[in-house]
Order: sequence, then C-alpha cells, then structure tokens
Amino acid sequence: MTASHSSTLSRWRAARAATWCFFEETLAPSAYEARPIALRHPFVFYEGHLAAFTVNTLLKGALGRPGLDPSFEVLFERGIDPPAEGGVAPQVRWPSRAAVTDYVRRAEAAVEEALSSPECEGHEDAALTILEHEFMHQETLRYMLHRLPYTQKRAPAGAFAPETGGVLARGGCVRIPAGVATLGAARGEIPFGWDNEFPQTCRMVPAFTIDALPVTNGDFLEFVEGGGYAESSLWAPGDAEWLASHGVAQPAFWRREGGAWFWVGQFGLVPLPPSWPVWVSHAEASAYARWRGRRLPTEAEFHRAAFGTPEGPERAFPWGDAEPSVLHGNFGADRDDPVPVGSRPAGASAWGVHDLVGNGWEWTSTPFAGFDGFSPMATYPRYSADFFDGRHFVLKGASPATPSPLVRRTFRNWFQGRYPYLYAKFRCVRP
Ligand SMILES: [Fe+2]
Repeated sequence: MTASHSSTLSRWRAARAATWCFFEETLAPSAYEARPIALRHPFVFYEGHLAAFTVNTLLKGALGRPGLDPSFEVLFERGIDPPAEGGVAPQVRWPSRAAVTDYVRRAEAAVEEALSSPECEGHEDAALTILEHEFMHQETLRYMLHRLPYTQKRAPAGAFAPETGGVLARGGCVRIPAGVATLGAARGEIPFGWDNEFPQTCRMVPAFTIDALPVTNGDFLEFVEGGGYAESSLWAPGDAEWLASHGVAQPAFWRREGGAWFWVGQFGLVPLPPSWPVWVSHAEASAYARWRGRRLPTEAEFHRAAFGTPEGPERAFPWGDAEPSVLHGNFGADRDDPVPVGSRPAGASAWGVHDLVGNGWEWTSTPFAGFDGFSPMATYPRYSADFFDGRHFVLKGASPATPSPLVRRTFRNWFQGRYPYLYAKFRCVRP
C-alpha cells in the first residue's frame, strides 16, 4: 500500500467512526426515520446513502466491481432538493434499521478492503470523492438534527457549552481596492477538488467596501422589529409569497417565548446572543441588505476580501498559509452553534475582515454555475451540473459543523435561496 493510500484509509476510518457516533450515540433511536426537514429525506436515507454512494462510486464506478445490493444502490443513490415542499417526493417505505445497518457494514468492509488493495492505486480521485462526500453529509446530518426536539437527540460527551460572552463588536467596514481574485484551481493543482472548483478563473474586481464582521442577531433584530418581514418591497419576486405561504416572520434559528427571543441551539435554547452571527436564508439576507441600502457580496468579492492582500499575492486562507485550526475560526465540527463575531481574530484576512471562514457559511449574491471550461467529474458527473439553474447561490467559508478537510479556498457550497436550515450567515457590501 502506498503512503497516500494508507493515509486515505486512515482518514476514511476516522470519518466513518464519526458517522457511526452520530447514528449510534447522538441521534435517538426513535428519530431514525424522522424527517425534520420536509425538503430532505429522513435520517435513515442518509445512513443508507453514505454506504450506497461508496459502492456506486468506488466499487462499481471506479473499480468495475459488482455491487452489494442492487435495490439499495438505487433506493439510496441520491438525495432530493425540490424547489418547494409541495414538490417533495412521496414518502417511501424505508427498509428496517437492521437491514440498513447490515448493508452499511458490508459496504464498509468492502470499501476497507478496496482502499487497502493495489487495485485502488490510480483511483485516488474516487477514494477522495467518497471521503469528502462523507464529510459533507456529516454536516447535513448535523443541521437536520438541529430541527429535532431536544428529546430526540443526545449531546455528545464533552460537547461545548454555548460561548455567548464577548463584546458586541459594532461592525465597521473595510475598503478593498480594485484587484484580481483567483477563483477555483487549475486541474492538478490541488490534491482533490469537486468539478465546480475547476478550472482556475481570474476575475477583475472593482473596489468595494465590505462589513468587517458578519451581520449579527443584534443587527437583524432591528430588521425584525422594524417590520422588515412585512415590507414586501424589500423582498425579491416570489420571496414575499414564500414568507406568507410558510408563515416565515423570523430566522429559523430564533424562537419567541414569554415575550423574549431565544436562539434554538443544537442542544438547548439560549437567550438570543446579540453578538452571534444571524443564520438565515439567502432571501432573508438579501432583504436585510436592501433594508440597509446595501447588498450581498459577489463570490469574487468574497474571494478578494478573504484571500487578497494589499501587497498583491493571494493567500491560501484568510489568515495566510497555516493549516486551519480552532484559532482561525469556528469550524471543524467541534460545536454546532456560533460564537461571537470577531472572536477568532487570528483568522482575519489581510484587510482585517473577520469570520470569513467559520461561524456559518457565507451567502454570496452569485448564482451557482460552472467556471468557464467546467466539465463534470468522472466519479460523480451529476454532482454540480444539476444545480446550475439560477435558483441556487454560492456560499463560501465554513460552518461550525464543517469538518476541517473541507476548509480550502476553492471549495464552493450552494443552496436554494429560500432554504433556511443550513448554518449560513452573511455580511453586506456598502455603497
Ligand atoms: Fe450525497
């Protein structure tokens, strides 16, 4: 076994251990078939999906081996992303937990054997595809878990207590001069990237002025109490109808009880921390920005604020070239809730813009699309292209639940504009 295979195998084992821990320890058994977000399948799907994806992608797709269970490899092949709850596929009858677990164990053993075999050499891309897919859905599971009642989940031992202290920093803004932003990577430049990260694309970005900190709960409360949700002129076409039809009048992570606002934390309610970033949908972020007479940054502006420098050369990370650590931002899957904005100053960019990576994915105004020269990846051709529809927007950075290996400059996330459940913050560009 080569060193790179040995490393992929050990990373794979660690990733699987984390997934097992979620299903065996954190999720209550009674919630296994729960579907807390109607726009997603229930938890049982994701346990089967992670295994079926490894079989379909590595064993069948890359190595040309037979599958383990043809019906599971179709049933668990792919998730859903309907435009509205009305478009959700009807509930299927899921296999028993015992049957799913048996399949998962067989798939895991087969993947372990494959990753250890010389046959896998030359298929590093497929191996890393299943590894990163596992990481991404660990975050999916965490934000789905967030929607469950507290009786249906158990906080892992050593889970962090909410970090609600800190000074409520009153923003300020930073002027970024015109310059080039390098998006994506040249093929072969990075050990692994998804298809939408290629090829490298240079954009000339005019000068702009951006918030040094993300918009906080304290900021957003002014919008809520100022009637922002009821002012239809602030909302994009269709968004006001979405508010009305879904009864949306506040962020999905807020709750009002006894006349007071609370943050719905992963494992308990917290009196609304004014210094935490507000987590909202793209639609809500955009309405807030209009209310302030501002706008969301483009993907290229995010890059310029995060990775550009006054001297010219761009950085690998906002803080420089050092490997990501807990000092640089609230990411890495150690916690599920935010921390006060600006409380990880070691992660600030060269311009003094804070929290660009961590504390919530960051919405941009850029519709998700391939860079010029995009081509679908061989190991998972439908990964990105199915979502180039103008309804999905690019997010950058990372959330608290994002495993550290996904923290890289080129990584692009995307969601529909009215999806309010992921851990996503925003900041504004000022006129
Ligand atoms: Fe998936």
